[in-house]
Amino acid sequence: ESGRALSGRHVLVTSGPTHEPIDPVRYIANRSSGRQGHAIAAAAAAAGARVTLVSGPVAIPDPAGVEIVHVESAREMLAAVEKALPADIAIFAAAVADWRAAGESEQKLKKDGSEPPPLRLALNPDILKTVAHLPAGRPPLVVGFAAETERVIEHAQAKLARKGCDLIVANDVSPGTGIMGGAENAVHLVTAAGVESWPSLGKEEVARRLVARFAELAPRANVK
Ligand code: C5P
Repeated sequence: ESGRALSGRHVLVTSGPTHEPIDPVRYIANRSSGRQGHAIAAAAAAAGARVTLVSGPVAIPDPAGVEIVHVESAREMLAAVEKALPADIAIFAAAVADWRAAGESEQKLKKDGSEPPPLRLALNPDILKTVAHLPAGRPPLVVGFAAETERVIEHAQAKLARKGCDLIVANDVSPGTGIMGGAENAVHLVTAAGVESWPSLGKEEVARRLVARFAELAPRANVK
């Protein structure tokens, strides 16, 4: 038990998309399946960690052995993350919507024959950036993801600095790759020290290897 790589550690994972309400029946969403984030949560639990998984709406089952918090919007996700801290390792694999509808309508918007209603957007909180910049209680290892369609590594390096995290797991989600929603993932690990590129592997295998790496990188100090 205590010999496992992450025993005694608390690992926080975000996963899945967020749904941003427009009115009571409509929302803005994205194509994230939650497969990679959920696989990481499961792999961390298998490595002995206490895991809190904060998940947006997904069609896949809750992984066994983790505490799961289901949320819909980015703002709910941030609140759930803040409530789940402190953590030894925080992994932000969710595809959080950058924008939400500015001013959710309390009633269903009706088509009344005139112009379509304008959809105004407001900026969502950046959960990864918020946690990585916490003045107190920042998890010792903060990991972000970067889904890019071009110049993947360059963008990931810029993101590492902008977000203030310790590691970016970058992947190419161009339509031709089949990664978004697919079973495989080819990732690049980007830190201040350099870049390591892995071959395309099943998302479960990527998760196991990532968790092993996080266990090596996370400082030994335990958060209870
Ligand atoms: O800025 P971008 O969305 O490309 O950054 C991706 C990384 O930031 C992912 O780790 C994602 O989970 C996280 N993120 C977040 N909150 C947001 C936007 C992104 O936690 N509002």
